[in-house]
Amino acid sequence: MKDTAIQVKGLQKSYKQLHVLKGVDFEVEKGNIFALLGSNGAGKTTVVKILTTLLKQDSGTATVNGFDVATKPDNVRQAISLTGQFAAVDEILTGRENLIMIAKLRYLKNPRQVADDLLKRFGLTDAAERKVSTYSGGMRRRLDIALSLVGKPHIIFLDEPTTGLDPEARIEVWKIIKELADGGTTVLLTTQYLEEAEQLADRIAILHEGRIIASGTLAELKKLFPSAKVEYVEKQPSLEEIFLAIIGKKEAK
Ligand SMILES: Nc1ncnc2c1ncn2[C@@H]1O[C@H](COP(=O)(O)OP(=O)(O)OP(=O)(O)O)[C@@H](O)[C@H]1O
Ligand SMILES: [Mg+2]
Repeated sequence: MKDTAIQVKGLQKSYKQLHVLKGVDFEVEKGNIFALLGSNGAGKTTVVKILTTLLKQDSGTATVNGFDVATKPDNVRQAISLTGQFAAVDEILTGRENLIMIAKLRYLKNPRQVADDLLKRFGLTDAAERKVSTYSGGMRRRLDIALSLVGKPHIIFLDEPTTGLDPEARIEVWKIIKELADGGTTVLLTTQYLEEAEQLADRIAILHEGRIIASGTLAELKKLFPSAKVEYVEKQPSLEEIFLAIIGKKEAK
């Protein structure tokens, strides 16, 4: 039997007149990467906020790590972390200080060690003593994700983890996300980049007009569309491939 990390059934949410979620259903298996796609305003962040106990649904149920988000929010919080759509790092602290602060807030035994390990893993050791206000967008994002890994949560929520990053930084974040899932962490991410979902996700769900209108593996989603007629043309590289070739970086594995 498969292990379910997240289960969502008939989730509904309105903001006053605006009926954003009209009955959202999906499941995420433990250790999987699940991508929630949808255009601006589709309700992705709303789903994430409900699952991370920041917002209450109007109806329907959601369980995270086996706990109901509405009735057992404390248990849910202990199992998860959230990297929001907008970075939550403290600008006036250094990278290391940010990590130590969170490790202390989570009552970890050796906050300095935890901070140093994460700095190393995210390639931020050289920048560790600099104030975050001097970091680039990619460095901030990496620190932001590092902060969410303090205390080794079972399930991590990443709301648009690579929005605003250059292709190189994006591939770095993808690599980190893959490593997390390989280590058994369950990842729910939202994205507007279809390629991101293609590269990373075990399963993909498309949120549209308040419901999940399609979901499955990439292969399953591809089957929903008739395959294109085979034509013998040279394959043109994508702009991303060209960009990466020019700056000499390899594709993420
Ligand atoms: N607190 C709020 N009060 C009123 N309306 C809200 C509130 N939060 C979100 N909305 C509206 O609900 C809809 C869904 O918002 P949400 O942030 O969940 O979308 P999203 O899919 O995350 O979009 P984006 O891709 O832009 O991040 C939008 O129309 C938004 O304007
Ligand atoms: Mg959003």
